[in-house]
Amino acid sequence: MSSDAKRVAITRRIHERAREVLEQAGCEVWTNPEPRALSREELGRVVRNYDAMICLLSDRIDASLLQEATRLRIVANYAVGFDNLDVEAATRRGIALTNTPDVLTNATAELAWALLFAAARHVAAGDRFVREGRFHGWDPLLLLGHEVAGKTLGIIGAGRIGTAMAKRAVGFEMRILYTKRSGPSPQMDAIGATFVGLEELLRESDFVSIHTPLTPETRHLIDREKLQLMKPTAILINTGRGPVVDEAALAEALAEGRLAAAGLDVYENEPTVEPRLLKLPNVVLLPHIGSATYEARAAMAELAALNILDFFDGRVPRTCINPEYVKHARQA
Ligand code: GLV
Ligand code: GLV
Repeated sequence: MSSDAKRVAITRRIHERAREVLEQAGCEVWTNPEPRALSREELGRVVRNYDAMICLLSDRIDASLLQEATRLRIVANYAVGFDNLDVEAATRRGIALTNTPDVLTNATAELAWALLFAAARHVAAGDRFVREGRFHGWDPLLLLGHEVAGKTLGIIGAGRIGTAMAKRAVGFEMRILYTKRSGPSPQMDAIGATFVGLEELLRESDFVSIHTPLTPETRHLIDREKLQLMKPTAILINTGRGPVVDEAALAEALAEGRLAAAGLDVYENEPTVEPRLLKLPNVVLLPHIGSATYEARAAMAELAALNILDFFDGRVPRTCINPEYVKHARQA
C-alpha cells in the first residue's frame, strides 16, 4: 500500500463488508477494536488524522468536534437518521456527510410490525409467563389482545420506512391514515391510504407508528396533550427516534390506562430508559435494533464504504446529505 493511501477510521466494529470494499480500493482502514464507543478525545484524534470516518448514530459529530477536523473530509453515518450530525457546521467546513437510506427500509418496517404484534398480542408478556412456570393449560381468558384486521393504522411520517410499514398493512386489511411534512404522497395514495392532520390521525387510529426523523420540529411531537387525543384502546409504536415522544408522559398514559400499550425500539435518552416504563407490563421494549438484520447491516456497510469511495473519486457521494458541501470545499 502506498504511503499516500487514504486513511479511513471506523468508530466501532461493524459488518466487515465496509472494510473489504475500502481495502479493495486501496484505503488504509482502522477500526476501533473496543466493544464501546470512542470518547470525545478519541473522536478528536480521528478527525485530525483520517481522511474519512464511518460513525454510528450514537457518535455526536458536532460543531466543536468538526472544528478539530484538520484532515477529515467525509463522514459516512452508519444509519439513515442523522440527528447526531451537525449538518450546517460540516457543510461550512466543506465536509461531506452521507447516510444509509433504502437498504434498511424493509428491516425497520418489519421490526415495527414485530413490535406492533408483540404489543397487540402480548408476545413478550406471554414468553415471560411461560418461563416463569405460570402456564397451567389453555385458559379462555388468558392474555387477550387486540386484532389488527379491519383496524386503523396511523403512520406519522410517510417516508421510505413509513410507506413500507403501510404497504404491509394492506395485507392485514387495515384502514391507513398518514401524515407527511411535505404533503400527500402518491405512493401512499396508491395503496388507498388517506392523508390527514396529526390530531385527526391520533383520534382515529387504533395503532400509531412513528417514522419521522428527529428535528427541532419533531422533538416531543407526541407530548402529553397529543397522547390525550389517542383512544384508550390504542397502541403506539416507535422505531424512529426516541425524543419524538415525551417518554415521561407516555409512561404516565400507559400506567393510567389512557393508552392500551406501546412498543418501543428507541428512547429519549439512549441507552437510559425511563424507569417507569421498565415496570409496566403493557410496553414492549427493544434495544434499538430496527436495522439489525444480516441483510441490512451488510448493505449499510457497503453503502457507507461506497459513499467514501465516490468522494475519493471526486464525485458527490451517492447518498450525500449535504451536496452543498462542494461549494464550500472549493473555498476551504
Ligand atoms: C437507525 O436508527 C438508523 O437511523 O439507521
Ligand atoms: C426514513 O423514514 C426514510 O425515509 O428512510
